[in-house]
Amino acid sequence: MIEDGRVFRDDHLPRELQHREGAVRELSGALEPAIRERPADDVLVSGPSGVGKTVLARHTLQRLQQHVGVPHAHIRCLGETRGSIFREALRQHPQGRDLPRTTPVDDVLAELRSVLDRPFVVILDEADDLPRSKVLEDACRVFGLSMIAISHDQEQWLAPISDRVRRSIATKIQLDRFGVDELADILERRADIGLRSGVVSREQLQRIADEVAGVARAGIQSLRAAAELAREREHGEIRDVDVDDSFERARRRIREANLRSLPWHHQVLYALVHEAGTIGAGELHDRYDQVSEQLYEDSPKTPIGKRSRRNKLSKLRDYGLVLDEGKRQNRKYRVVDEAVKPAIEMPRRTPY
Ligand SMILES: Nc1ncnc2c1ncn2[C@@H]1O[C@H](COP(=O)(O)OP(=O)(O)OP(=O)(O)O)[C@@H](O)[C@H]1O
Ligand SMILES: [Mg+2]
Repeated sequence: MIEDGRVFRDDHLPRELQHREGAVRELSGALEPAIRERPADDVLVSGPSGVGKTVLARHTLQRLQQHVGVPHAHIRCLGETRGSIFREALRQHPQGRDLPRTTPVDDVLAELRSVLDRPFVVILDEADDLPRSKVLEDACRVFGLSMIAISHDQEQWLAPISDRVRRSIATKIQLDRFGVDELADILERRADIGLRSGVVSREQLQRIADEVAGVARAGIQSLRAAAELAREREHGEIRDVDVDDSFERARRRIREANLRSLPWHHQVLYALVHEAGTIGAGELHDRYDQVSEQLYEDSPKTPIGKRSRRNKLSKLRDYGLVLDEGKRQNRKYRVVDEAVKPAIEMPRRTPY
């Protein structure tokens, strides 16, 4: 049934980005000066989860790379600090190196400046939190460094940034969900490479594209799940009932992958909510304070304050892992799917 499972991986780079011709053109246009060794525009790419922001940036840079070597870096910024982001940029630069974690940020920036003898494009992926840090200001001050920042909500992202950063972002690209036919085309291409020929019909692909409301990641994972179910059930080809049952498996898998991709503090908070089932904000903070010393013992991170915890909890909500209801002190949290197990083990509750 499945002939090449690699095409269902999230980091698979398709040869062609279907139905994103306009966005590829716009991004290539913004980066074009870099080919002529001139600093390129800064770009903001926004849109909901799973519609192809990361793949747009990677695909476009790879295409540019075919003409002329434009050095670039891809950095996932969620949970990272100013220092770790610029250290990673330096590490990925062809003339760069690994600096110790204790290196002051100004020294990292100075070294980055000293190696940039030509344009360097940095994808700041999962950059939703960057407008609240100094990273964007710093990046604007490194001559030759151009950024492609990736965020979920364009307006929210732009609201707090300084005029200087705003001016430097000359190109803003908004990606939206695909239409049903468009996503069915994308799925058809994956099926052509990944599945045995003729095991899925166009109607079934349309059905998947419709059910996932045009979100490419969900569509691709559902197609994969449908093929797995068909194989497990010893169906010679994908049946409608396999498609029906594929969505739940795909959703769970995406949630598990989302959880795994999150940094340590988010993992701690997810484990706390998971342990409780449903938990009020006050109780959650108490429990955090109670267990944090033990949980952070083996981690280079240190426990965080209440505001930062709220911030991480909203991220868990945006990633479809936790639900919150009510306002402020009355807010209650619960996990969306109990079967998505936390990655870290909670210390046992001490009896009162
Ligand atoms: N135009 C396209 N053609 C082919 N495949 C696509 C296209 N757009 C997205 N995909 C595929 O959809 C999946 C999700 O895309 P991607 O990881 O880029 O989403 P994202 O917008 O970055 O999501 P998130 O905000 O969660 O990081 C990937 O497997 C990607 O290859
Ligand atoms: Mg992404």
